[in-house]
Amino acid sequence: MTSIDLTDPDWWRQAVVYQIYPRSFADANGDGVGDLQGIISRVPYLTSLDIDAVWLSPFYPSALADGGYDVDDYRNVDPRLGTLEDFDELVGALHSSGIKLIVDIVPNHSSSLHEWFREALASPRGSAARDRYIFRDGSGPDGSEPPSDWDSVFGGSAWAQVEDGQWYLHLFAAEQPDLNWDNREVRDDFLTTLRFWSDRGVDGFRVDVAHALVKDLSEPLPAKATLPRQSESNGLHPLWDRDQVHEIYTEWRQVLNEYDPPRSAVAEAFVPAARRARYASADGLGQAFNFDLLQADWDFGKFRQVIKENLALAELNGSSSTWVFSNHDVVRHATRYGLPKDPDGAWQDGKAWLLSNGTEPTVDVAQGLRRARAAVLLMLALPGSAYLYQGEELGLQEVGELPAANLQDPAYFRSKGAEKGRDGCRVPLPWTVEGLSFGFGTGGSHLVQPKWFGSYSVQAQEGDAESTLSLYRKALAVRRGLQTGATLEWVDGVDWSLHFKRPGGWQSITNFGAAPIELPDAAVVLSSSPLEGEKLPSDTTAWLI
Ligand code: NOJ
Repeated sequence: MTSIDLTDPDWWRQAVVYQIYPRSFADANGDGVGDLQGIISRVPYLTSLDIDAVWLSPFYPSALADGGYDVDDYRNVDPRLGTLEDFDELVGALHSSGIKLIVDIVPNHSSSLHEWFREALASPRGSAARDRYIFRDGSGPDGSEPPSDWDSVFGGSAWAQVEDGQWYLHLFAAEQPDLNWDNREVRDDFLTTLRFWSDRGVDGFRVDVAHALVKDLSEPLPAKATLPRQSESNGLHPLWDRDQVHEIYTEWRQVLNEYDPPRSAVAEAFVPAARRARYASADGLGQAFNFDLLQADWDFGKFRQVIKENLALAELNGSSSTWVFSNHDVVRHATRYGLPKDPDGAWQDGKAWLLSNGTEPTVDVAQGLRRARAAVLLMLALPGSAYLYQGEELGLQEVGELPAANLQDPAYFRSKGAEKGRDGCRVPLPWTVEGLSFGFGTGGSHLVQPKWFGSYSVQAQEGDAESTLSLYRKALAVRRGLQTGATLEWVDGVDWSLHFKRPGGWQSITNFGAAPIELPDAAVVLSSSPLEGEKLPSDTTAWLI
């Protein structure tokens, strides 16, 4: 049973946070799209998982050019998902079950349907309305070329032209114009939004593309060939991770600290580990995502290095580490771990995550699931907060076979099909073994669920003590009793294993190798796969006390 203290200002430090992608979780009104009442109806399920908090991906009014990360109105609920009253009911239902709520906030860009952008389009060059965004004249003799050759993250130019010939910047889809954070009105409006949701009882915020808000757009704009690599950011890139962005988060922190307990925040910032610390500082957002394990191959040396580095960083900046294997942007890790080892390291540069290649190359489903189960026990034994993505507790695989006509991700459209996109991890959850949309709702499902989904459903796993759902439930319950402090002590063992001790005698050992290994003399409380006699088999984690 969840027993989190709703008044604890440090609740987020060791929290298990479950990410809900609302359009694909549960559909109460049968229109094929998940909604807030659907989530409310599943609060007992969330309680049975024994999580500390829910992170809700955007539920704001949106034309869904980017799955809701194109926000039309930051202080409202998409009518297809419910109303503000439904939202209040959800906060109440979660809180009375001892579960906190984190909402997504998307400050780098609004949608092109936001009233500000409509006003900007209807206003002349140089107007105050255009100054809320990043408008520039084009290049070339007649201004018909974009102001620079920069690419958007989803492919194609980062500039789009409007009727009077000017261009606006969009680092993501054209329907996501970047806001101008040098504009005081933009800054103030987001403070209003933070207060709006905090006043409604929200406990924290996940900050989308937190490292992009401040830009240096002084002329002449540099050519893309001369830009530093984003991954080697040192504060000098004109678009990403500029030092001045932290002035914004200092202001946000002051607002978040007006509340009791202070509202938490976690930055989504793709920056090198050392630069992540500033986003996670106590006078900034407080915590930042660490995607290092998510990007790592299944390799004990890599895992050990990532864990060591991030625990040291957390100690330095007074925050706590975050750990995550899956979210709505990447191929589900039960599938990633079943892929053949990538010879050119594309996982590291991120490209492969955007390929929903669940069927190509061939996935070793059994190996993927086995490693995913071992990975989650390892993660849950670490100090810090663990972020889980809906469906991973079912061992759900990526849906690689979505028909092209059903794809929704702008990455698919803007790359002209070269990247299949992220829809394969966003397919609505299977709740029942059979039935229309496998219990997701009484209507269909906005992304087509494959036939095999029912075998992964909650219903199929409920009564099975060996199921992945049962493993998550047991692991989360055991963790709740054991997770204290932020310390971890490494234990030397065979080369291909990771073995560490936590306070209270809690030990976790993962065998990344092929041959079974000896276990220390202690009681095994949980293992991700059955032991081989007294030994820990390949791709397995055991917890001992
Ligand atoms: C990161 C979000 O997680 C992703 O889904 C979105 O497409 C981009 N930010 C742009 O908002």
